[in-house]
Amino acid sequence: MEFSFNTDPENDFALGLHRRGRFDEIFNLNECYLTSETDPEIVKWFRTFVKESGMSAYNVTEHTGFLRFLMIRHTQNTNQIMLNIVTVDGEIINLEKLIDDVKSKFPEVVTIVQNINNQKSNISKGEKEFIHYGDGFIEERILDCRFRIYANSFFQTNSLQTENLYKTAFELIQPNQNDRLLDLYCGAGTIGLTAAKMVDEVIGVELEPTAIEAARENAKLNNINNATFYTGLAQELLRNNPEILNGVNSIITDPPRAGMHKKALKALVEHDHKRLVYISCNPSTFARDAQILVDSGYSLGKVIPVDMFPHTMHIELVSIFER
Ligand SMILES: C[S@@+](CC[C@H](N)C(=O)[O-])C[C@H]1O[C@@H](n2cnc3c(N)ncnc32)[C@H](O)[C@@H]1O
Repeated sequence: MEFSFNTDPENDFALGLHRRGRFDEIFNLNECYLTSETDPEIVKWFRTFVKESGMSAYNVTEHTGFLRFLMIRHTQNTNQIMLNIVTVDGEIINLEKLIDDVKSKFPEVVTIVQNINNQKSNISKGEKEFIHYGDGFIEERILDCRFRIYANSFFQTNSLQTENLYKTAFELIQPNQNDRLLDLYCGAGTIGLTAAKMVDEVIGVELEPTAIEAARENAKLNNINNATFYTGLAQELLRNNPEILNGVNSIITDPPRAGMHKKALKALVEHDHKRLVYISCNPSTFARDAQILVDSGYSLGKVIPVDMFPHTMHIELVSIFER
């Protein structure tokens, strides 16, 4: 979860969450029912640490100040925490004390990194990363596989429900030992790698080079030798690299909230495979893409909601399309 900084005329600065619909209003978070009990304690401790050390908070309208975000990645199955402090260029004051405090107060924290974002865009992804403590990654277990998670690569936020999501996807796709499975929008390769033992071969396609690096590393970590990963835009790779779809008979696609690019959908529709499982975190773009698939000759089977984000209005879904 990402906690944001902003200056606040009444109390020097705030560290917490955005008020709904406001990019420039942050409230101080003290309790949170979405995360583990530890995470709000880290937020409260960090707020005090920042006050005592005199570091400045970033102002999102004037683009001044130093600290932009505190990102906490906390695994549910292995109970490891990464702290990612996102700042503009500059050094964290009293870094040694910060590391000592963390070690004594929050032993679950295994790594602390600093990401530098000098851009105006209010995102936590950095242009540069410094590892201040630990190895720069945390490790999670999903089904039978181990995964290394880095600060900037996508990983599902709710591991327990991710296991349910993937199991549901596998029940729908019914993998078997002769299948060549395409894991489209594969992130760090989690779907394909957890399915790898059930199929002959896995192909992963993903835009983010760091996620693909993690996917390759995760394949090695799990002794998986039947997975190949491609980096680039799905819509371009599917068109320009025919070997990706060659022999594929099952596809699991898991696009971002914007849904699938029309050209990527077109490449799938023109290809001859038997099953397509579509995982979506945005029912409205899913509905748009489902219409295109149905108009192109697929029939839509089950659509199963999965509550990946409990206590929020968001819903994930898994669906099956067959010719
Ligand atoms: C919802 S995540 C799915 C990740 C993965 N399937 C998982 O379960 O962890 C969507 C992924 O699509 C990637 N992505 C976004 N646009 C893309 C594009 N045009 N082509 C390929 N990958 C893209 C993102 O970087 C992100 O990793």
